[in-house]
Amino acid sequence: MQFEITIEGPLPDIDLLYNELKIFSAKMGKSPVWDMENRQRGKIIITEKEKYLDDTLQHLSHIMTKAENRSASETKFDIRVRNLACSEPPTGSDQFITPFNPVPEITIRPWTPSMAGLSDNKTIVLDPKDAFGTGKHPTTRLCLKLFAQMAKDRSYHQRLSNSRLLDLGCGSGILAIAAVKMGVQRALGVEIDPHSVKAAKQNVLLNGLSQKIEIRKGSWEAVHERYDVIMANLVTSVMLMIGKRMPEYLTDQGMAIVSGFGETQAEEMKIFFEKKGLKIRRQLNLKKWSAFLISKNL
Ligand SMILES: C[S@@+](CC[C@H](N)C(=O)[O-])C[C@H]1O[C@@H](n2cnc3c(N)ncnc32)[C@H](O)[C@@H]1O
Repeated sequence: MQFEITIEGPLPDIDLLYNELKIFSAKMGKSPVWDMENRQRGKIIITEKEKYLDDTLQHLSHIMTKAENRSASETKFDIRVRNLACSEPPTGSDQFITPFNPVPEITIRPWTPSMAGLSDNKTIVLDPKDAFGTGKHPTTRLCLKLFAQMAKDRSYHQRLSNSRLLDLGCGSGILAIAAVKMGVQRALGVEIDPHSVKAAKQNVLLNGLSQKIEIRKGSWEAVHERYDVIMANLVTSVMLMIGKRMPEYLTDQGMAIVSGFGETQAEEMKIFFEKKGLKIRRQLNLKKWSAFLISKNL
């Protein structure tokens, strides 16, 4: 399998990190690249052909953590891993032309140019382009299912209409859009991949939700307040790196829905979140994937 690993951060720190990643030189671009939207930031892209990435990511994470600790500033690098042989059906393929229900509460209508206006609070018009988040992947479906269950829960239902939600790694924007359709007051989606940011913004518009959902390019550094609900469907290695900051960004009564890990990794992830002072309230599994509903308040 071929993976693309992107590391982003302030340009001077990225320059230094680049020099320390010599071991990956055959797999990196000739130099770090500027972020076209923010010239203060840069990125390193590594292409890796391996069956499993665990060793590579552990090695990378070790070098990045050392660089973060050494930096005089509050530098935190962002890391993104993309499976180039994407595990979702390409949009426009036969598998993504007819409406479907990732959960009974939501219908996805794949967008077509001839599509006339929409939309009700059960239907999402979606044009994910290359972004992850068609609604077909089990991890996305698990997140939607946990959210739908939480929204139905009487003790939570009343709070929902005043709640603000963060979708960390929003991809196509599907989770933020679904959450607003199911009653959340406002949502912010953050995403480090510029193509996905574009797709998510477009999907927010297609669903007439630009008053309620904002999409920003970035990761935690683009989040400036605490949220009542955080949804994060992230590759395990990324979750292990950035998920540790989740408690900072949750309100005192906040809840999080996390996925992106397999059933075999669920125990490790449970321990990871519990060590951060979070409590696992519920676990759902689907096709060997898992997701948790987590609360901050023990
Ligand atoms: C598995 S996809 C989930 C997309 C969508 N939320 C869903 O559930 O279908 C994970 C997304 O997180 C993004 N991502 C990866 N690392 C990130 C980071 N450090 N900060 C923000 N987004 C990140 C990826 O680009 C990708 O779009």
